[in-house]
Amino acid sequence: MRRVTSIAEVRAAVRAWRRADQRIVFVPTMGNLHEGHLSLIEAARAHGERFIASLFVNPMQFGPNEDFAHYPRTPERDERMLRDAGCDLMFMPDVAEMYPHGHEGATRVEVPGLSDILCGEFRPGHFQGVSTVVCKLLHIVEPDAAVFGEKDFQQLTVIRRMVSELCMPVSIIAAATVRDSDGLAMSSRNQYLTAAERQRAPALYQALVAAARRLAAGERDYADIEREGLRALEREGFRPDYFAVKRAEDLGPPAADSAHLVVLTAARLGRARLIDNVQVRL
Ligand code: PAJ
Repeated sequence: MRRVTSIAEVRAAVRAWRRADQRIVFVPTMGNLHEGHLSLIEAARAHGERFIASLFVNPMQFGPNEDFAHYPRTPERDERMLRDAGCDLMFMPDVAEMYPHGHEGATRVEVPGLSDILCGEFRPGHFQGVSTVVCKLLHIVEPDAAVFGEKDFQQLTVIRRMVSELCMPVSIIAAATVRDSDGLAMSSRNQYLTAAERQRAPALYQALVAAARRLAAGERDYADIEREGLRALEREGFRPDYFAVKRAEDLGPPAADSAHLVVLTAARLGRARLIDNVQVRL
């Protein structure tokens, strides 16, 4: 595996692989890798012959009071994990390579509507930062396919919409959420939990599963399901931002004939803001 920091080096590697008729699959990350990230590389295997991962903590997607400066950075360990997973190229640009004129005044990509609900309501500008950096990374790598985790379901939905509306020639592949044995979705931000909070954290997933069971049993009082979810989280000491039942396809309000729903939540526990979701097929 090669580790490169410049856009030019990525393009040169990709050009050589293309000449050899190899399909390229891309996995964007912010580093501090865990098994959830590695499952994306695993999922990539079915879609090509060459695998590129990026590690970039994107300042544009962090709010002024968020954890950009403290976000865990472990590039040496990440490099070993990617090499062992069979990745061919690790792209680790610095901020100046990605935003030569600074990120604040940089050209942006906006997916309106979808970016303003759920997490977007509590993290203004977050999804604009995500769609901008993913758009840039997809233009740099020009992969045949790119893999994203269902763990960040709203992010996946925003990216699918961006790729479709900007006619970007890339297949977006979704990979299932990887969880610890007690159900907690793996996340770099789980490190912010104290030992006592970590014990309580699986209640987030349990609340989602309880809501999904009610939906699967045919209940359609979405407001009551959402209220019960919020109550369950508060009982466990979380400070929830939202707990919502949505149409999985476009995160719109569920209709009587919606066959694919998703229950999504974001909640703070101590210093950590955790997000998770569970899909329900009816
Ligand atoms: P990051 O949080 O590092 O996540 C990178 C990718 O890993 C995302 O597609 C995310 O959904 C996926 N992922 C994280 N935890 C997962 C888990 N437990 N199971 C399955 N997949 C998981 O998401 C970002 O970075 C950034 O917003 C990025 C897309 C790289 C843009 O900066």
